[in-house]
Amino acid sequence: MKQFVIASKNEGKIKEIKNALHGLNLELLSLADFPDIPDIEEDGRTFEENAIKKAKTVFEHTKITTFADDSGLEVEHLRNAPGVYSKRFSGDNSTDELNNEKLLKELEGLDIDERRARFRCVISIYNPFINELSFEGKCEGYIIDEPKGTNGFGYDPLFVPEGYHKTFAELDLVTKNKISHRGRALAHLRTYLEKYVS
Ligand code: IMP
Repeated sequence: MKQFVIASKNEGKIKEIKNALHGLNLELLSLADFPDIPDIEEDGRTFEENAIKKAKTVFEHTKITTFADDSGLEVEHLRNAPGVYSKRFSGDNSTDELNNEKLLKELEGLDIDERRARFRCVISIYNPFINELSFEGKCEGYIIDEPKGTNGFGYDPLFVPEGYHKTFAELDLVTKNKISHRGRALAHLRTYLEKYVS
C-alpha cells in the first residue's frame, strides 16, 4: 500500500480528503503524524505556488509523496481579491467574522450582478519522480449582502453558489463537498490517483 502525507493539521480538511480518496489502495498520513515539521509560511502570489511550496517542504522532511492544498475567494469587483490573502483579509488579527464584515463593506450598495465571486482551490502533489502536479477546482457564485447560515467556516455565510438559493453555510456538508472548489479539485486528484496507485 502506497503512503502519502496530507500537508495539513486541519482535522476537517483531513477528513474531507480521506473521504474523497476512500477505497483507493493508499495509506494517508497527515501533519499530525509529523509534529516536528515547523509551520510553513504561505507567501506565494498564487494558490498553486503556495500548494507546491507546502507539498515540497513536507516531502523534504518526510521523504513521502505529499499532497497540499491552498484555496480562497476571488471577488470580481475587487479585482479577484482577497485571493491568496483570504485568511488575512482584515489584517494580522483577522477572524472569519472580521473578514466577512470587511467584504460586506467593500461591496456595500452593489447590485447582485456586481457581486460575482468564485472559490478556487489548488491541490498539488510532490515527489522527486513525478516532480510537481497540480489539480484545480473552482465554484462560481455571488456574495449576498448579509450573512446567512451557521454551517462551514470562512466566507461560507456570504457565498451563494451558482444554481442555488442558499449560502454554503446553509447547505449541508455533503452537498457543499460535491460542488465546492475543494470537492472538485479532489475529484481530479482521485481520477489521477486511480491510475497512479492501481
Ligand atoms: P485554506 O486554503 O484552507 O488555508 O483557506 C484560506 C482561506 O480561504 C480560509 O481561511 C477562508 O477564509 C477561505 N476559504 C477557503 N475555502 C473556503 C470555503 O470552502 N468556505 C469558506 N471560506 C473558504
